[in-house]
Amino acid sequence: MDYLLNGSDNVALLSLENICKKYNQGELAVMALKDINLTIEKGEFVAIMGTSGSGKSTMMNILGCLDRPTDGHYFIENEDVAGFNENRLADIRNRKIGFVFQSFNLLPKLSSVENVELPMVYAGAARKRRREKAVEALTKVGLEKRIHHKPNELSGGQRQRVAIARALVNDPSILMADEPTGNLDTKSTYEIMDIFQKLNDEGVTVVMVTHEPDVAQFTKRIVVFKDGSIISDSPVENRTIGEAAAV
Ligand SMILES: Nc1ncnc2c1ncn2[C@@H]1O[C@H](COP(=O)(O)OP(=O)(O)O)[C@@H](O)[C@H]1O
Ligand SMILES: [Mg+2]
Repeated sequence: MDYLLNGSDNVALLSLENICKKYNQGELAVMALKDINLTIEKGEFVAIMGTSGSGKSTMMNILGCLDRPTDGHYFIENEDVAGFNENRLADIRNRKIGFVFQSFNLLPKLSSVENVELPMVYAGAARKRRREKAVEALTKVGLEKRIHHKPNELSGGQRQRVAIARALVNDPSILMADEPTGNLDTKSTYEIMDIFQKLNDEGVTVVMVTHEPDVAQFTKRIVVFKDGSIISDSPVENRTIGEAAAV
């Protein structure tokens, strides 16, 4: 079947077609996403921007299969997941998507390496294999010397790096982050963006929400939302490169 793929380097990893999301608030209906069409290819690094309430988190929840659209089609690697039930969405999430959140969402009683192992526990991996993969992921984010530290023994930037390692441990096709630097100082923010850039250079597709223009400048493409619609979608000129920004 390989011959079918010959000549198409641009593989649509994610594709949204006429996606709508309506929330019912009592009598009122809020159209949080209005007829969204967007394709993200393998290897892209995309920033989702827009003012508060413009639909960014709703968009990420749908992209990450945490929520379903009210209308439209959503293809992940050519599979239409828009109508999937909760179990099938959970399966797609576990196999294909890594999540990073603003508030890190680490379990406080577990060490770094135990936190990173968790998604593999859910996936049913053997103990030895889990430990190897978790240490490898922590090494990738520069935390090989902190594997037995608990979250409260780490800085904010280090906690977010643990969360990134956890997101990577099942080798997802895509990394999704909602305001990952929202709770971090400038230095840690640049360190996190440097890590995202390196992962992206290695082939990981990254989609992140941010409202900070200087953070978006580290990505390759900026998609701006307003009132549930996309109002601009453009490549990043003069990209900031992490190491340079850190000096
Ligand atoms: N669970 C919900 N129930 C009802 N309305 C919601 C819900 N989540 C978001 N909204 C509404 O949808 C719109 C988009 O919200 P959101 O996606 O959170 O925006 P952003 O992340 O850009 O700040 C807002 O008007 C918000 O009030
Ligand atoms: Mg939001």
